[in-house]
Amino acid sequence: MRKTIKSLWLKLTWAFNPDTIKEAYRARIKNFFLHWFPPKVTKRSFSWSYSFWLGTISAVLFLITLVTGVALMFIYIPSIRQAYWSIEDIEFITHYGWLLRYSHRWAGHLMVVVVFLHMMRVFYTASYRETPGRDSHRYVNWVVGVILLLATLFLAFTGYLLPWDQLSMWAVTVATAIGRTTPVIGETLYRMLVGGTTIDQATLIRFYTFHCIAVPVVVILLISYHLWRIRKDGGLASTVHHDVPLDESISEAEDTSRVLAVPAVPRRIFLVTIATWVVVLVATLLFRAPLLEPATQAWTPNPAKAPWYFLWLQELISYTTIKIGHFVINGGFVGGVFVPAVLFIALAVWPSIDNSPNDSTGIWFHRTRLWQNVLFTVICLTIVFQILFSYYCRGPYWHVYWPWNRPEIPGRF
Ligand code: HEM
Repeated sequence: MRKTIKSLWLKLTWAFNPDTIKEAYRARIKNFFLHWFPPKVTKRSFSWSYSFWLGTISAVLFLITLVTGVALMFIYIPSIRQAYWSIEDIEFITHYGWLLRYSHRWAGHLMVVVVFLHMMRVFYTASYRETPGRDSHRYVNWVVGVILLLATLFLAFTGYLLPWDQLSMWAVTVATAIGRTTPVIGETLYRMLVGGTTIDQATLIRFYTFHCIAVPVVVILLISYHLWRIRKDGGLASTVHHDVPLDESISEAEDTSRVLAVPAVPRRIFLVTIATWVVVLVATLLFRAPLLEPATQAWTPNPAKAPWYFLWLQELISYTTIKIGHFVINGGFVGGVFVPAVLFIALAVWPSIDNSPNDSTGIWFHRTRLWQNVLFTVICLTIVFQILFSYYCRGPYWHVYWPWNRPEIPGRF
C-alpha cells in the first residue's frame, strides 16, 4: 500500500521535481500546468528583490477570496431581512464559519493594497516598455492592469455592502452619493447601480450579483490574459537590458544569467502561495472582521465614512467645493469624480507620455525618470496620507481631531 501511494505521488510530482536537465525540459512539454512557463528565466526577473513577486501575491490573494467566497455563498442570504443574520450564523454558528469570513475579508483588503503596490513596482521600473526587436505588448498589459486595479476596487466595494450592517450600508451610501454628483450621467449611473433612489433590496441583490458573479468572471478573464501576455512578451521587462540575449547555443555551464524555469518558478510560486496564505491566516486569527448592528435608515452614524480605499476621495470632497459669488462647483464632483478620473486616465496613458530612454527599463528609480518618479510618489503619498488622516483624524461632523481625542467610532475597516 505504502509503495503504491509513493509511486502514485512520484508520478504526480515528478514534473515539479525533475532530476536532470533533460527531465526538466521534458516536464515543461508534458505537464499541462508547466506548459505555461518559458524554458528559462533570467535570474534578475526571478529574484525576490526585483518584482517582490507582488503580481503573484495579488493572484494568490484573489484565489483565496475566490475559494472562501464560494464557501460563504452556501450560507449567505442576499435579502435585506436575512443577510445580517446569515452573517451572524456564519460567524457564530457554522463550524469555522468565522475562519472563512475573516480570511475572505482580510484577503480582499490585502488584495487592494498589494495590487496597488504591484502597480507602483511596474511604474518605478518602467516595465510597461516594449522589448526592442520583439513583438511585445507590455503597454496593453499595463492598460489591462489599470482595468484590474479598478475591478479590484469595485470587487471590494460591492462586497462591502453584503453584511448589511450599519457600517456597510452607510459606507456604501456615502460612496455612491459621491458618484451621483457626476454631471449629466451621474443620476442615471446611480440609479442603475443602486436600483432606485435609496440603498435597499434592489441594491443588495445587484451588489451581490456583481460581487459573486460578474466582477470575478471579468477579473479571472483579465488575469488570465495578463499572465498570458507576460509569457508572450518574453517575460518580465528586466530581461531587456541586463542579461545576455536568449542564445540557445550557450551551454548550461556558461549561462550564468538564467535558470531553468522548471522547477525553479513553480517552486517559488508554491512558496509565495503558502507564505501569502499564512499571512492571511495570521490576520484572521489576530483581527476580527467588524459586524455592527443591523442596517437601518432610521439613524445615520456621525460621521458616515466611505470604505477606507475611497476615504481619500471623501477627504478631497471636503475641501474642493468652489464658490464664486452665487456660482457653486460641487466638491462631490471635483474631488469625487473629476480628480480621480483625471488620475486614472493619466495612469493609463502614462507609457505614451514617458519619453525617457529605453535604458531605464527594468531599473528601479532610474535617474532619467526622476521627475516622473517624484510626481508619482507625491500623488501616491498624498492618497495614502489622506486615507490615514480621514481614517484616524475625522470625527463627528467631519471635524478634525487628534486620533487619541477623537470620539470612538465603532468597528471600522
Ligand atoms: C489582480 C491584479 C493583478 C494581478 C493578479 C497581476 C499579476 C501579475 C503577475 C503575476 C506579473 C508577473 C510579475 C510579478 O509577479 O510582479 C505581472 C506583471 C505585470 N503587471 Fe500585473 N497584475 C495585476 C494588476 C496589475 C496592475 C494594476 C498593473 C498596472 C497598472 C499591472 C501591470 C503589469 C505589467 C505591465 C506587468 C509586466 C511587468 C514586467 O514586464 O516587468 N498589473 N502582473
